[in-house]
Order: sequence, then C-alpha cells, then structure tokens
Amino acid sequence: MQPAFHQKQLVKLHHVILDCVESLLREWLEKPEGEIIDIAAEMSRLTLKIVSSTLFSIDISSKTDKLGQSLRIALEYVYYRMNNPLALPVWIPTPRNSEFRQAKQTLDRLVLDIIQYRREHPSEQNDLLSMLLAAQDEETGIGMSDRELKDEVITLINAGHETTATALAWTWYLIGT
Ligand code: HEM
Repeated sequence: MQPAFHQKQLVKLHHVILDCVESLLREWLEKPEGEIIDIAAEMSRLTLKIVSSTLFSIDISSKTDKLGQSLRIALEYVYYRMNNPLALPVWIPTPRNSEFRQAKQTLDRLVLDIIQYRREHPSEQNDLLSMLLAAQDEETGIGMSDRELKDEVITLINAGHETTATALAWTWYLIGT
C-alpha cells in the first residue's frame, strides 16, 4: 500500500480535503450566533468525510449513510469488547452480538460492492482505492484480492478517522485554553 501514501500521491488529494474543510466551515457560518458546537463530534464527522472521500470518493459521514452507520456500530462493539474482556463470545446471539454481526455483514457487503464496481469501471476516480486496485506485489506482480482490498479499506477508514479526529479535537482545546 505504501506507494499510495507517497507525498506526490497525497498532493493530488489536497483539493478533496480542502473541499471537506470548506463545506464544514460554511455549515458553521450558517449557525445562529452563539450556538455551541461539539468539537469532538464535528472533528469526527469531518475526518470521516475526508477519509471516505479520499479513499473511495464517497461521503459516508451523514447520520443516515448505511456504510457510516454500520461502521459506527462495529467500532462501538470493538471498544466494548476491549473494555469488557469477559464479554460473551461473538457467536452467542445476544442482542449486542447480533447487532454487531449484522453491521459487519453490511459493512463487508457494501465495501465489496464498491470494490467490484471499481474493478468494472477502472478509470473513473483518482483516489486511494484506485491506487490500491492498481498496486502489485513487487516480486510476484500479483494485485490484491477483493477480500484483501476490503480489509485494507476498512482498516484505513478506522485507522485514519478517529486518530485524526481526536488529535484535531485536542488541538482545538489547546487553542481554546
Ligand atoms: C493523528 C493521527 C494518527 C495517529 C496518532 C496514528 C497512530 C497510529 C499508531 C499508534 C499506530 C500503531 C503503530 C504500531 O504499533 O505499529 C498506527 C498504525 C496505523 N495507522 Fe495510524 N495514526 C494516525 C493517522 C493515520 C491515518 C490518517 C491513516 C490512514 C489514512 C493511518 C493508518 C494507519 C495504518 C494502516 C496503521 C497500521 C500499520 C501497520 O500495522 O502496518 N493512521 N497509527
């Protein structure tokens, strides 16, 4: 995946990131004077929009987006498991486990659909997914399978979204104090 993160490649995505920031600023400007903004939630929405737009050219940050919803349920579940090591195994159909399994199934299917669509329409977008689709193993010349791509995409959404949102929220806090 590393070539996709070369500075030269990332520069091509500057305008996407800038668009996301500018649209958030426009939303803030339209708010009534003195309205309080939950900065952690706003930064999370912003980075989810940036990571999904730069990764596969789709905005999944709205509350109603099915991919974004499944991702939130799955992430909450992962944090729950990390904080509750004695929680019942995932295969036991408790309401929480069933909700997670359903969300994971939806997430996997939606991301696989995006990958399949992009394999069939290769040159439409210039984003990280198109670079990952084109990536080949240096020794074997083989590209990634759909499943490998799907796992990388979901990892990148998670790894690239909450970390940056948290860093930005604390930056605002430091500026504020
Ligand atoms: C302030 C922002 C970020 C922080 C603090 C952060 C922090 C970290 C940390 C601590 C690790 C684990 C390193 C290790 O133990 O091996 C990691 C791994 C990773 N991060 Fe980030 N990260 C940030 C932003 C991002 C972004 C924007 C992306 C992608 C768009 C990303 C993608 C990844 C990936 C793919 C890994 C796994 C690497 C591997 O194991 O091969 N991160 N990050």
